[in-house]
Amino acid sequence: MHFYGTQTVNEKGHLTIGGVDTVDLAHSYGTPLIAYDIALFRERAKAFKETFKNAGIQAQVAYASKAFSSIAIYEVAQQEGLSLDVVSGGELYTAIAADFPRERIHFHGNNKSYTELQLAFDEKIGCIVIDNFSEIAMVKEIAEIRKESMKVLIRVTPGVEASTHNYITTGQEDSKFGFDLKNGQADEAFKQLYDHPYIGLLGMHCHIGSQIFETDAFRLAAKALMDKMVAWREQHQFICTVLNLGGGFGIRYTEEDEPLHPSAYVEEMTSVVLAMTREFQYPIPEIWIEPGRSLVGDAGTTLYTAGSTKEVPGVRKYIAVDGGMTDNIRPALYEAKYNAATANRMNVPHSDPVTIAGKCCESGDKLIEEAFIANPEEGDLIAIFCTGAYTYAMASNYNRLPRPAIVFCEDSEHQLVVRRETYEDVIRLDIPLQLAKRGEKI
Ligand code: LLP
Repeated sequence: MHFYGTQTVNEKGHLTIGGVDTVDLAHSYGTPLIAYDIALFRERAKAFKETFKNAGIQAQVAYASKAFSSIAIYEVAQQEGLSLDVVSGGELYTAIAADFPRERIHFHGNNKSYTELQLAFDEKIGCIVIDNFSEIAMVKEIAEIRKESMKVLIRVTPGVEASTHNYITTGQEDSKFGFDLKNGQADEAFKQLYDHPYIGLLGMHCHIGSQIFETDAFRLAAKALMDKMVAWREQHQFICTVLNLGGGFGIRYTEEDEPLHPSAYVEEMTSVVLAMTREFQYPIPEIWIEPGRSLVGDAGTTLYTAGSTKEVPGVRKYIAVDGGMTDNIRPALYEAKYNAATANRMNVPHSDPVTIAGKCCESGDKLIEEAFIANPEEGDLIAIFCTGAYTYAMASNYNRLPRPAIVFCEDSEHQLVVRRETYEDVIRLDIPLQLAKRGEKI
């Protein structure tokens, strides 16, 4: 099996994360539980920053916090000197609660509301990544009314189709995100923004998709944006000082995935930018990136307790766990593949493959179709790897299942950072009919 980050097996044959025995974690906090290897997060953050430093490029590495948003992870991001990409008022509110340095917050989204934009101005955040014409009008209006300036980037779609799941590509022309680079929309957005007294146009942004392995896609995107920057200089004598190339760096979920080290993608992109700045004698812009999955994805492991089993003779064995599509929708939504292990019996060889099913009332609620793990029995601890990105962030209360707890493990210590939902939490927004009728406030 493949170990991620600090994972090892201890003398009891238990999986450990950050030096912490996962069986102890399950006893302390219950299951399902998502355990994060914080040293791995820090290592990745440092590697991204180091890559820019080595290339002599000014940069911001913004954690794309949609992958996993919580106050504690924002605090770690801050400790590592990262910036933060938020995509909603809710993520921005979480950043404020974490007291994240406002000037390093970048605000994304294809349908930001007036209220969300006002919050961005209230908090004097670092930059708004403008996505569409109605947003341009709103940002200008707010800035003019308040007589306050705001830095912005123009999000463009470079027309690069990277091979990833259809639902998670964003850089192609037929996308709900951003201004098209080729049909004149990006130029029009530029004209509406570049000489406005309260708008500080920094440059351009693109994000071509997620879980991408090919370097060509990143290189092509960087080239497309640089071409446009050169054109704007010629036409308007405007110099972009920031080039944000998004995230999307693929990670290894299973042996089918063969990613490069995340920072290798960054090296590819920066080499294109540096070559083009030399060719066109363009001042080297600051490069910003927005990794999400590659910072938290393989740092997260979900621990479940095995429950009922079912044998379909000659077909397969099902083992059901105490979570499922509520804490990880990715297998059902994207046919995402994962690996697992029986965390309390790591030294036992694996047997015939089993199907790890969730506990939701839905046949499609299967986490792993064919898991090669030590034959699991009721009460075993099942670890599913690489669940740190887009799992808790996309969790639901389907079937009124409470969402899991989250613990950070580092230096042989563990710390609860998101508490488990209780049944009271699950009904906290419900208003009984009698109270609703009387219009009572709860
Ligand atoms: N920047 C922008 C503008 C994005 O839209 C995204 C992801 C990122 C950065 C971070 O991408 P990453 O480095 O994490 O690949 N729910 C899907 C993924 C959706 C990605 C959305 N945007 C999944 O579970 O695979």
